[in-house]
Amino acid sequence: MTPAPLRVAVTGAAGQIGYALLPRIASGQMFGPDQPVILHLIEIPNEKAMAALGGVAMELEDCAFPLLQDMLCTSDINAGFKDVDWALLVGSKPRGPGMERNDLIKENGPIFVGQGKAINDHASSDCRTVVVGNPCNTNCLIAMHNAPDLPDANFSAMTRLDENRAKAQLAAKAGTHHTAVANMTIWGNHSATQFPDFENARIDGRPGREAIADVVWLETPFIKTVQQRGAAIIKARGLSSAFSAANALIDHVRDLREKTPDADWHSVAVCSDGSYGVPSGLISSFPVRADGKGGWAIVPDLPVSDFARERIDASVAELQQERSVIQELLG
Ligand code: NAD
Ligand code: LMR
Repeated sequence: MTPAPLRVAVTGAAGQIGYALLPRIASGQMFGPDQPVILHLIEIPNEKAMAALGGVAMELEDCAFPLLQDMLCTSDINAGFKDVDWALLVGSKPRGPGMERNDLIKENGPIFVGQGKAINDHASSDCRTVVVGNPCNTNCLIAMHNAPDLPDANFSAMTRLDENRAKAQLAAKAGTHHTAVANMTIWGNHSATQFPDFENARIDGRPGREAIADVVWLETPFIKTVQQRGAAIIKARGLSSAFSAANALIDHVRDLREKTPDADWHSVAVCSDGSYGVPSGLISSFPVRADGKGGWAIVPDLPVSDFARERIDASVAELQQERSVIQELLG
């Protein structure tokens, strides 16, 4: 029997990431080849943005995707989040060259107050919210606080792009394929302080420090490359990453819905329960396993070396600092 359609809201649907993301959702790559979807496409109430969104909707129609049951285009967030099962919060300003992601906090943060409230009041009572718009950890914190009726566990921010980037770098250095890299944790913030944990990663089944003998590379250029990859793409393209971000969001949602293989995990920024010394309530990236029934858990008891501890603490300190800047948006 065909399952009932899932209602999926995407904000910033006429933007770069939206353009790369929507055909992949509508063709079944996020929710599976048997799962029909109804897309709620949300943009700002601006003539140009709504005209562009109309064009995106025409293209979706022209694909005649079998799984796409219906589509709504709106700038009214209450209508946009009505009854949705998933809210994918992409819409917000990207940074330009020379900026850090948290330079966007004053401009983008307020967006997530209204969206959090609208999700709280209008979305399905089990709606899952994923924040992509930067600075995504702190924007997720804002949305979660403004949606008090939904469980905190239903909110996450995306560090999967960083995980995928780290896997690609480690695989290239080890001379293997990126599918041979597993257990890749990004700790902390989706920012230049994140710690891509090569120590707990496995490369062809071996710990990072064993598989790659070049310690200097692991401890400095590798970490820097992952931390700065977004900036490198902006410098090269003049625009921030788009299809790799959309691809990471497909991975993020799919892997939160499917059971994670016992031997692996993925990086997800979730509300801390105090694990690994990260203060409760911060949205920080952890190693996470999903149970395939809608639940997930932070992988416990991983070894954290002094080298890792110092870096995780620095990223957490940055998250605390970001929280202090937007404290008044937390309601
Ligand atoms: P873009 O400028 O191409 O598109 C953003 C779209 O969002 C625009 O169409 C804009 O009109 C819309 N928008 C702005 N405010 C909105 C609001 N309040 N409601 C609905 N729509 C709104 O940008 P992009 O390249 O698609 O990037 C979007 C965001 O994603 C940026 O903040 C970027 O930094 C972030 N990003 C995050 C990651 C990650 O790994 N977490 C990766 C890439 C990009
Ligand atoms: C990325 O990591 O590519 C995005 O967060 C965009 C950015 O500002 O770097």
